[in-house]
Amino acid sequence: MYDFDREVDRSNTNSVKWDKREEVFAAGDITPLWVADADWPTAPEVIEALKQRVEHGVFGYTFAGEEYKKAVQRWYERRYGWKIKREWIVFLNGVMPGMHLALRSLKKNTYKALIQPPVYFPFFKAVRKSGLKVIENPLKYQENSGFLLDFADLKAKIAEHSPDFLLFCSPHNPVGRVWDEEELLKIYRICQENEVLLISDEIHGDFVFEKTFRPLASAAGEESPAIITLNSPSKTFNIAGLQIAYAIIPADGLRRRFKNSLTGIMPHPGPLSLEALGAAYSRGENWLVAQLEYLKGNIKAAREIIAEIPGVKAAEPEGSYLMWLDFSGTGLEEREIEDRLYHRARAGLQPGRWFGTGGSKFYRLNLATSRKRLIKALERMAEIFS
Ligand SMILES: Cc1ncc(COP(=O)(O)O)c(C=O)c1O
Repeated sequence: MYDFDREVDRSNTNSVKWDKREEVFAAGDITPLWVADADWPTAPEVIEALKQRVEHGVFGYTFAGEEYKKAVQRWYERRYGWKIKREWIVFLNGVMPGMHLALRSLKKNTYKALIQPPVYFPFFKAVRKSGLKVIENPLKYQENSGFLLDFADLKAKIAEHSPDFLLFCSPHNPVGRVWDEEELLKIYRICQENEVLLISDEIHGDFVFEKTFRPLASAAGEESPAIITLNSPSKTFNIAGLQIAYAIIPADGLRRRFKNSLTGIMPHPGPLSLEALGAAYSRGENWLVAQLEYLKGNIKAAREIIAEIPGVKAAEPEGSYLMWLDFSGTGLEEREIEDRLYHRARAGLQPGRWFGTGGSKFYRLNLATSRKRLIKALERMAEIFS
């Protein structure tokens, strides 16, 4: 019913992923497997809603009516069993703008924020540009269990620095972990006991394959936990260019302060972005289910090819469509790895060092492209690294 194999030419559409290849990789003809968007069109249900709104033709000042909040509420209740109240939802133009504003407006004592690298690199900038210092609580890697949160180090860093915030990434980009209930609860308790404000970026939460995703604030087990959850349908429905996101903030005082900081700075979401969110959350679920099935096939295909490449190891993406590949076993220096990737295999994976501590010699592979294109790029990679 939905065709994820159909390849749409995205070049010359000002696509960051496709049209910045030369600038970023000095290789204009590589298969771009970096920026986290998908190469297929959004759900037909979303396209239809947008067409109808465009037909209307008037795009004057718009507010986010109650139906959009209801769409978010229903999505959470249906998919995650979390009953959120309408007033907890604050619409934004992006998850990252929301994070920047939260950091700027809610910093209070030490002007320090914890992050857990290797992690989505704009977190570093969000902290620094907001006038705070980055404190790192790196993930641990264990041969049999993969990437884990380092609770002992977290407690030690909190004791030493008393940070104002922890920026939590759940599921974790780039390592692909979907944190277990027990891990979520531990994080919440440690932060609560030490008055560290949790900002939980859950933008990849709809991409889980075998495990169940649990929003951190719902795992906290309290009526209105002081957590800022940031989310968006932008990854789930591949509408990042439409710029719509939201915060969910159950605690009244915290929400009031956050909302105050938006006034006059965060533009109201536009009519097209709201229309897309409404249609996606109300009528797009079957498309999402089909997309997840397709991605499972891509993960399997990628895993099989990568298993044959000497010295390259893939972390299992429990969540997100990103695969974190460890090239350290090749014994090659990064310059040589990148020369082979970009100039010989013509595979545009994202360098792990961008993601901070622990990222060196890792490369992030975006699986959200046609299977045929993905397999071709990975086969070229296998040939060059074998
Ligand atoms: C973890 C994470 N947070 C936020 C974003 C970007 O969100 P937005 O475009 O809504 O600012 C991304 C995009 O790749 C991401 O991976």
